[in-house]
Amino acid sequence: MQALILAGGKGTRLRPLTVYTPKPIVPVVNRPFLLYQIEILSRAGISDIVLSLSYQPDKIEDLLGDGSEFGVRLRYVTEPTPMGTGGAYRFAADEIRETTIVLNGDILTDLDISDLIAFHRNQQAEATISLVRVEDPSTYGLVEIDPESRVKRFLEKPAKEDVAELGMNTINAGVYVLEPSILDLIPVGENRSFEYDVFPKILENGKAFCGYVMEKNYWRDLGNPKSYLEAHRDFFAGGISGFVIDRSAVSDIATAALVDKGSVIGTGCVIKPGAKVTLSAIGQGVHIDEKAVVENSVIWSHTRISAGAEIRNAIVGRSCHIGRNATVTEGSVLGDKTSLSDYTKV
Ligand code: GTP
Repeated sequence: MQALILAGGKGTRLRPLTVYTPKPIVPVVNRPFLLYQIEILSRAGISDIVLSLSYQPDKIEDLLGDGSEFGVRLRYVTEPTPMGTGGAYRFAADEIRETTIVLNGDILTDLDISDLIAFHRNQQAEATISLVRVEDPSTYGLVEIDPESRVKRFLEKPAKEDVAELGMNTINAGVYVLEPSILDLIPVGENRSFEYDVFPKILENGKAFCGYVMEKNYWRDLGNPKSYLEAHRDFFAGGISGFVIDRSAVSDIATAALVDKGSVIGTGCVIKPGAKVTLSAIGQGVHIDEKAVVENSVIWSHTRISAGAEIRNAIVGRSCHIGRNATVTEGSVLGDKTSLSDYTKV
C-alpha cells in the first residue's frame, strides 16, 4: 500500500503565511504540518509515501528529505504547472501502480487509516472517500451516501437555508482510497479536480464508490488563518489524541516570566521577567521582552516581541519585529519580517 499526499497548492487563503512557507510545512504546534499526516500513515504501516508538489517544491523537499528521519520513504513528484488535485494524482501515475491512499495535504486528522482501508476492502470498492459530519456544511461540498455506504451524489456548497431540508451533513474529509483503475478516468496532462471532475466521473462510470464516515475522529481543514489558529487551540485543549507534543526544547525562560503549561516553546527562546505567555505556540529562537503578553497566538521562529507589547488571538510570521507596547489584536496575521513600530495597533 502506498500514499500520495497532495501538497502542491498555493495556499492563497493562508497568505501572508504561505508567501515564503508552502502550506504543507507551516508549523502546527512547532512541527511542520505534513509530519502529522506522515504519522497517521506510519501508524497504519504505510511507509511508501509520494509527495505531489508544485508550489515551492524545494522548500518541502529540503525540509523532509528522503523521510528516513521520520521512519518512512519519501519520494517527490513535481508538476511543471499546478494540475489540480485530480490532475496531480494522474501526473503521479508512474509512481502509484497499486491501491493508494490519497490525502489532501491540509487536513489535520487522527483518522485510523487501517480502518479506512479495511472498509474499502470489505466494500470491494474501487474508490472510497472519507467523510466527516459538520454542523454547517454550507461552505463545503456535501456527499450523500445510501444505507450500503455507496456514494449517491455530490452537492457543492449548498445554500444555508437548503441544508436543513437536505437532511445530510457529511462532507468530503480529503482522504481517499483509490484503485489504479481510477487513473484511467483522468486525461493525461490536464488540470482536473477530484471534487468537480474525477468523483462525478467515477459515479457516471458506475464504479464501486463508497463513503466512509469518520464518527469519532478529530478532523480539521487548515486552509485559512482562523482554522489554523483553532487547530492550535484544539491541541492545547487536549482535543486531538494520539499526537505527542514535544515540550523538550531548551529555552531561557526567566523565573519571573509566566508561561502556562499549555503553551509550547521552541528551542533557543528567551522569555524575560514579567512576560506572560498563555495557550500559545512559540517557534524557535523567539525573544519575548519584559512584560510582553502573548495569548492564544502562534508566533513563528526568530520573531522579537519587545517590552510591553501585547499579542492576542493572532498569528505572527517568522523574523518579525513587534515594537514596544505595540498591540496585535484578534484576527491579525502578520507575514514574515513584518516590523511594527512602538505603540502601533493592528
Ligand atoms: P487555497 O489557494 O487557499 O485554496 O489553497 P490550496 O492551493 O492548498 O488549495 P486547496 O485547499 O483546494 O487544496 C487542497 C489540497 O490539494 C492541498 O493540500 C493542496 O496543497 C493540494 N493541491 C491543490 N491544488 C493542487 C495542484 O494543482 N497540484 C498539487 N500537487 N496539489 C494541489
